[in-house]
Amino acid sequence: MKRRELLKLAGLTAALLTTTAMLAGGAHAQDKKWKIGFSQVTTIEPWRAQFNKDILAEAAKHPELELIITDGEDKTEKQVADVENLIRQEVDALLVSPKESAGLTGVVQQAIDAKIPVFVLDRNVETNDYTQFVGGDNKLIGRAAGEYAVELLGGKGKAAGNVVEIWGGMGTQPAHDRHDGFHEFTDKEPGIKYLLDQQSGDWKQDQAYNIMATALRNNEKIDLVYGHNDPMAYGAYLAAKDVGREKDIKFIGIDGLPNEGVQLVANGELTATFTYVTPGAEGLRQAIKFLNGEKVEKTITLPTQKITKENAAQILKDNGL
Ligand code: FRU
Repeated sequence: MKRRELLKLAGLTAALLTTTAMLAGGAHAQDKKWKIGFSQVTTIEPWRAQFNKDILAEAAKHPELELIITDGEDKTEKQVADVENLIRQEVDALLVSPKESAGLTGVVQQAIDAKIPVFVLDRNVETNDYTQFVGGDNKLIGRAAGEYAVELLGGKGKAAGNVVEIWGGMGTQPAHDRHDGFHEFTDKEPGIKYLLDQQSGDWKQDQAYNIMATALRNNEKIDLVYGHNDPMAYGAYLAAKDVGREKDIKFIGIDGLPNEGVQLVANGELTATFTYVTPGAEGLRQAIKFLNGEKVEKTITLPTQKITKENAAQILKDNGL
């Protein structure tokens, strides 16, 4: 690899942290066969950073494409403007991982109307006219979390305890599916009580910390926390630790990144997490397949895995950590 290209790659890594990244590879942009736009909702959360890494690693295998990544800075208005901009740039395909369903639907429809194939990743929009959806099965993950929570609280028919659930973004399908799946199991247990009424930490560690700090002040007994993602489960853990109550509580999260959730489970900070594979690599592979004239399925569902102290160390090892 030429030094110039190496520098470009180094620049790319840096660009992950800024608002826009462009994969130019070896040839000049005008020599590229495909221009693909990816509208990412934010880059500050660990799972989003991994998502961008995954899509960039996949793009690096395809010198025939130019990939433009935008950063919605976790704001609907910014992400809408990003997608409008990608439409104006006449991208050959649009990948979008929305901040929330309703707010992004109009602009995704605009792209579809402009005959741009649209690949919706991770969080959905309120139209089915897109080319493909790629993401995890959040209902299934919620069910697995609920089943495990019941086990941790004493087992089927006998489970008892006070549960704090911290929601992800209310305007997103993953949060609702993670809630619904969990409750399919826990609601069958009369001994389980829910201490909060639909409190959202918007996927953020600091917001979850605050929700949990209040819950701890108001409740002498908390047995289990279900955070809709690992940053929030960990934020709740930190709040409990700050008042010396973390040992009394089980913490369940979702995402299972090796260098985040899996590490937290291995450390004994989280009790369990469930992997939520990023759709970065698969989403881009599918878009390329489609652009090359192949048929793609309407929905691609990514797998999940339960991670507890039984398998966390092995997973870390497998990932070279
Ligand atoms: C990152 C994130 C993940 C979560 C996903 C749900 O923005 O909050 O932690 O699993 O989005 O859409």
